[in-house]
Amino acid sequence: MAAAADSHGLTFRQDYFGDPAAWAALVALLEDTFGIDVGLQDRFGGPDPTSMPFGYFDENGVCAANFSAFFMPLMIDGRLVRAAGFQSGAVRPQWRGRGLYRDLMNRAFGWCDEQGFELGILLTDKPAMYEPYGFKILPQQRFVGPPPPVETRHAGVAHVLSLENAVDIALIRQILRERMPVSSVFAVAAQAEMFLLNCFFDPDIKLAHLDQFEAVVAWKSDEASFQLLDIAGKSIPPLAAILSVLDQHHDRVEVCFPPDKLGWQGTPESFESDISLMVQGDAATRLSGPVMLSPLAEF
Ligand SMILES: CC(C)(COP(=O)(O)OP(=O)(O)OC[C@H]1O[C@@H](n2cnc3c(N)ncnc32)[C@H](O)[C@@H]1OP(=O)(O)O)[C@@H](O)C(=O)NCCC(=O)NCCS
Repeated sequence: MAAAADSHGLTFRQDYFGDPAAWAALVALLEDTFGIDVGLQDRFGGPDPTSMPFGYFDENGVCAANFSAFFMPLMIDGRLVRAAGFQSGAVRPQWRGRGLYRDLMNRAFGWCDEQGFELGILLTDKPAMYEPYGFKILPQQRFVGPPPPVETRHAGVAHVLSLENAVDIALIRQILRERMPVSSVFAVAAQAEMFLLNCFFDPDIKLAHLDQFEAVVAWKSDEASFQLLDIAGKSIPPLAAILSVLDQHHDRVEVCFPPDKLGWQGTPESFESDISLMVQGDAATRLSGPVMLSPLAEF
């Protein structure tokens, strides 16, 4: 943990998650700013151990401003890319417009340059703020189409999983540790914390363990379509097997990641959102073809 010179009477701290009071102060900042409780991660094993937070604190320990980097290895076009994700960017209203966030962005991006990351990645509703630092919007496309033809009914069992169940959480965490990337084109290679938190925040997401594949499938469905959000597994089941084992029979399937491992090809369809995916670095220029970051990898 490092402390540095004051700014506006605030104390700068880096790498402070070892201090429970400082972690709680960040949880409060994010709750007050975004209305989300990232403290729920304590149920799932705590914050991402690769996180490198940069923050300013007042004399009472209140976190006035924060911006965090974390290690987010990505599989891009068949190559493992050493990428850094950026998240938890917020400044309390009374401290805005004084350059605190600029200072924290400079520190975080500078630290990542020193660490030799090949790619930076973030999600934002304020893309103009990151463009001066070389970030560019990466348009996202999901993949839609009719389901694969049903040849034979796949044998296999799906167990519904619940985040209310400690045994299920342990199983999901174990599988997340051992997962293979869901796509070779564009996918997280390792990341557990956001998968669990994203599931927890959206009660419409269903989770099932496909025993035969040692894989956890995250999905939604409504009258119109079956939506495949992510798969964490030692192997990636074909879409036909997933639909058969989950007993899902829709005319339309939407896959929220490049489907190169699913034995099925959907048609890319522009994914509109107020939140832009942005990337920075040489590895970003090598991206080819339509991509989407799985909603369960959002951060
Ligand atoms: C966005 C936010 C972090 C900015 O914090 P801040 O301390 O007021 O920002 P700074 O004063 O350090 O300004 C940094 C730069 O961002 C720019 N900026 C600030 N707010 C901006 C906005 N809403 N949209 C675009 N650019 C913005 C500033 O003009 C400044 O540019 P400059 O370096 O060229 O002068 C703060 O308003 C906030 O917490 N908002 C709510 C949460 C949020 O949106 N977080 C960002 C999530 S991606």
